[in-house]
Amino acid sequence: MSNVVVIGTQWGDEGKGKVVDLLTSSADLVVRFQGGNNAGHTLVVNGEQTICHLIPSGILHAEKKCLIGNGVVVDPQVLIEEIDGLREKGISVNHENLSLSEKAHLIMPYHRAIDDAREAAKGKDKIGTTGRGIGPCYEDKAGRSGIRAIDLLEPDTLEKKIRSNLEEKNFYLTRFFKADALEFQPIYDAYQSMAEILKPYLTDVSLEIDVAIDAGKQILFEGAQGTHLDIDHGTYPFVTSSNPIAGAACPGAGVGPDKLHHVVGIVKAYTTRVGAGPFTTELLDDTGDYIQKKGAEFGATTGRRRRCGWLDLFMVRDSIRFNGVTSLSITKLDVLTGLETLKICVGYDLDGKRLDSRPVSLKDLGRCVPLYEELPGWREDISTAKEIDQLPQETRNYLTRIEEITGVPLSIISVGPIRDQTIILQDPFTPSV
Ligand code: GDP
Ligand code: IMO
Ligand code: MG
Repeated sequence: MSNVVVIGTQWGDEGKGKVVDLLTSSADLVVRFQGGNNAGHTLVVNGEQTICHLIPSGILHAEKKCLIGNGVVVDPQVLIEEIDGLREKGISVNHENLSLSEKAHLIMPYHRAIDDAREAAKGKDKIGTTGRGIGPCYEDKAGRSGIRAIDLLEPDTLEKKIRSNLEEKNFYLTRFFKADALEFQPIYDAYQSMAEILKPYLTDVSLEIDVAIDAGKQILFEGAQGTHLDIDHGTYPFVTSSNPIAGAACPGAGVGPDKLHHVVGIVKAYTTRVGAGPFTTELLDDTGDYIQKKGAEFGATTGRRRRCGWLDLFMVRDSIRFNGVTSLSITKLDVLTGLETLKICVGYDLDGKRLDSRPVSLKDLGRCVPLYEELPGWREDISTAKEIDQLPQETRNYLTRIEEITGVPLSIISVGPIRDQTIILQDPFTPSV
């Protein structure tokens, strides 16, 4: 029995949702451990698209259990809407197949208000957040003033916390940002009624996982965002406010590191980024436009156009180190079809010197010039390939170079958004190497 962590190696939107949905067939439990509804994980099954923001991407498998760990910041309104949306599609979601950690912190209306006000005040220097209140909620968690899911069960605690938080937040919103104050009663009433709906889902997620492991079950941990949006290791401050790296599954789900056996790093066959921040291999030309259109690169959460560029393996190599990646899954390979030449970034040059590692200073990073290796592209449609042998030689060469440069074996190749548009080279739960 083994457990697998799936994480993004770039700036998010690598196709984690598709891979998690696929791997759920080998898992018993699927667990989100960080982030919030800044995530948008797209699943395409039976001709229908589903986007998961908070609920783990295993939810389409009726018999599997999905858990939202304590490391996730939960907007209860969004969670309820997501549950309702899935039910409308005929997918059963109930406390038998979905749990929410009692320790998860809740996103409150003032978190969203502060997120918006802060971004507006920053003007051209804004981070380009999703506006979901993610950063302000994690701030309160670290500042020990956060409201946890368990507080929904204690009306007096909930009231006290909302009142004291509002006093401080309203001062900040009105005096510093000249924004509107928020009223206590509507917030309290809304959270009280949402408490009634969410009560049956609240559990000790860490304990549930432990019991499942003891019973010989397999766990799939689903990361959100991507490694270079990591609050510690990403392109700070153009990052999110959590750790999307694999190790965060431990504090974010309440398991020990001995429970994480394999780490699948999802690598989009090129690079994308939503929001502001440095992007060394960004293509501000026709090729970038071609990839953006062909890959339908629009944010699954905010609908924003994603910036596109060549595959940056210098960056992915850092991700492999931060996450302890044991195999790679290459996604959206089909999007590159039709390009005459493909480029892979294998290093950075700064002031005429080839760097050993990516600079931490954003000023330096912004001045780096990517060093490329060029490979011939392919024209054949690869979206129906089921085996590696069915891919053109040029496509296989591209994959081989990724494997050679990173030194990590490939486990899954995705050639389209649909569940079965996938080539499995090895099962991440039972790798042969
Ligand atoms: P996530 O946040 O990492 O789960 O990724 P998103 O769902 O935000 O973005 C990935 C997008 O690419 C979604 O629209 C997927 O349906 C789509 N997708 C995933 N894998 C493939 C693939 O191999 N080929 C193509 N063409 N689309 C894919
Ligand atoms: P998934 O899980 C891509 C980006 C935002 C912004 C920065 C900070 O779908 O891969 P935040 O709202 O988190 O404070 O915004 O992080 N961002 C994402 N970009 N995919 C995501 O999630 C993202 N979640 C946050 O665009 O640049
Ligand atoms: Mg996404």
